[in-house]
Amino acid sequence: MPRSITIKLQVLHGPNLNLLGTREPAHYGATTLAEIDAELARRARARGAEVRCAQSNIEGELIDLIQRARGWADAIVINPGAYSHTSVGIRDAIDAVAIPAIEVHLSNIYAREAFRHESLTAARCVGVISGFREQSYYLALDAALDHVESTRRSHGQAAQTKPRNRRRG
Ligand code: DQA
Repeated sequence: MPRSITIKLQVLHGPNLNLLGTREPAHYGATTLAEIDAELARRARARGAEVRCAQSNIEGELIDLIQRARGWADAIVINPGAYSHTSVGIRDAIDAVAIPAIEVHLSNIYAREAFRHESLTAARCVGVISGFREQSYYLALDAALDHVESTRRSHGQAAQTKPRNRRRG
């Protein structure tokens, strides 16, 4: 079946991210997950793209969500939370579906405890954005859309999101 032209993004939030807004604001900021999801939807719409957001505290559910993205999503934006540092299963799921993924962290994981410096999942992603609080998600959204557009261009397909305002000069 030919893929539709509108770019579709699956956003996945891992464990404890449902508590954003009250959870360790010094690391994660004060914005709630609902606010982040609403802003992602708004920004996606502004670029003519579609976004679906989901959160789970359960590793297997995140794996199911990654598997279900196959056939729908053109790219995945994922914050695997603590599973970034432990989950071979989520890493394998990203490999299995072969959908380009962008990893997101609200905090700068490299400025924190040593056990957070390694991400098992990041190595299977196109790239990682870490340390910009909720902006990390918005940067990841743009990165994912830009990535899909440039892949489509290189395959000769029309890219279909609205152009971003770019500085001239
Ligand atoms: C996090 C960083 C992880 O180390 C931590 O376990 C999280 C959130 C972040 O967004 O900064 O739950 O992924």
